[in-house]
Amino acid sequence: MAEDRPFHWEYRPEPVVKEIFRVEGGRPLSGTVSISGAKNAALKVLAAATLTGERCRFTNVPEIEDVRVMAETLAHLGVVVDHPEPGVYEVAAGDIDWLFVPLEAAARMRASFMLLGPLLTRLGRVIISNPGGDRIGRRPVDLHVEAMRALGAEIEYRYGYYYAKAPGRLRGAEVSFPQVSVMGTENAMLAATLADGHTVIRPAAREPEVDDLIVFLQAMGADVQRTDPDTIEIDGKRRLRGAEHRVLPDRIETGTFVIATAVTGGRVRLEGAPCDHLGGFLDAVARAGVPVACGKDTVEIDASNVGPGAFRPIDVETAPYPGLATDLQPPTCVLLTQAAGTSRVHETIFEDRLEWLAELRRMGAIVTIADDHHASIDGPTRLRGAEVEIGDLRAGASLILAALAAQGTSTIRGAHHVHRGYENIDGKFAELGARIERRAEEVPPSRP
Ligand code: EPZ
Repeated sequence: MAEDRPFHWEYRPEPVVKEIFRVEGGRPLSGTVSISGAKNAALKVLAAATLTGERCRFTNVPEIEDVRVMAETLAHLGVVVDHPEPGVYEVAAGDIDWLFVPLEAAARMRASFMLLGPLLTRLGRVIISNPGGDRIGRRPVDLHVEAMRALGAEIEYRYGYYYAKAPGRLRGAEVSFPQVSVMGTENAMLAATLADGHTVIRPAAREPEVDDLIVFLQAMGADVQRTDPDTIEIDGKRRLRGAEHRVLPDRIETGTFVIATAVTGGRVRLEGAPCDHLGGFLDAVARAGVPVACGKDTVEIDASNVGPGAFRPIDVETAPYPGLATDLQPPTCVLLTQAAGTSRVHETIFEDRLEWLAELRRMGAIVTIADDHHASIDGPTRLRGAEVEIGDLRAGASLILAALAAQGTSTIRGAHHVHRGYENIDGKFAELGARIERRAEEVPPSRP
């Protein structure tokens, strides 16, 4: 029952297991590997399941830390979450009796803020923690809050928490964002599905994960359509039903493995990979000279004749989909260390997402960070094994790529960041012939 559920100062999440990766570089990757379901789709459909009291079933859900935290957060609210087998989650939100998303959940996973829209529209109120910023930027949630207010919600902010309520039902409205926001679009869309009337969201994010969420909502009986590339329209319903959904494959994991193969001079086939979701990334790697062949749901990379150092320098700029995904900027930077000349990187989405390059420098990369959004990379560089520290998920995966390309052995601390969003990354690289192992981080003996 709600009263015996710990309040936030009593909430004790599992301690983070500190692990390192040890990588011996210089071996071309080869073979076939399967791409997992997308983190940035799975988290949203799990949150969307709270729009109904009926059972929902999800398949192709990645076995990653963020999904575990979302499941734990849902269970904390009184949602029944079953995990009958790897990749499958069943969710029944019939007995939600605790409308409070604590700071600890938000601190571990920003996407917990995706519970604002569905809980508010279905149950009329929620207290939810401000997730705050992280290593890649300030990441405010003002656009989410303004979207809820546009739909008729009353929201107060006190001591790090948003106190949100919807007197009566939310009302359909025009939700216009000053800039594209992926989760802002998704939160507003979820809230509008049970609102009274018609909602128009513009500019709506175009990311494939947003369309995957629309497919699930339609299966629940929601009246939601993308009516043009930048517009999503919703006619609210009184209630939605349970539904089944297969999570779409992860385009960011796909891009990460394309770069891993390129920088090791390997030859790899990716199965269950969404080539047509790669957007501007595919154009960028083609300009750099990475041979990529797209099949129906396969991606083949053969860099065995384009050894490291033979790629062309390029200028890249991140952008909302279908531009080059900001989540693929770090892996692309590793490729640029292997290009013959100067490449320029313009990170337009997040203001602190170039800082990680300082760790890449430890491996010998020649990087000039001009400001928060601009850097240049000179190559080709013979990367060398080193001891480096991971600060966030995508930078972490990119340091593994650099270590796979490097001469010698690397020790990469902070593996837990990578487990948040990549399923069994070290196991998959080992399947492709990499020398990589995961170990518990040795805790240095405490000084007397
Ligand atoms: C999603 O974050 C992804 N996360 C991010 O992936 C991804 O980098 C990002 O979209 C962009 O593609 C998930 O889906 C869980 P935004 P989101 O709102 O929705 C500013 C990963 O590694 N903004 O599109 O939080 C914001 O600061 C992660 O998997 C506001 O100012 O990103 C940024 O500059 C990292 N106010 C820009 O908009 C707001 O209320 C775009 O952010 C919301 C956003």
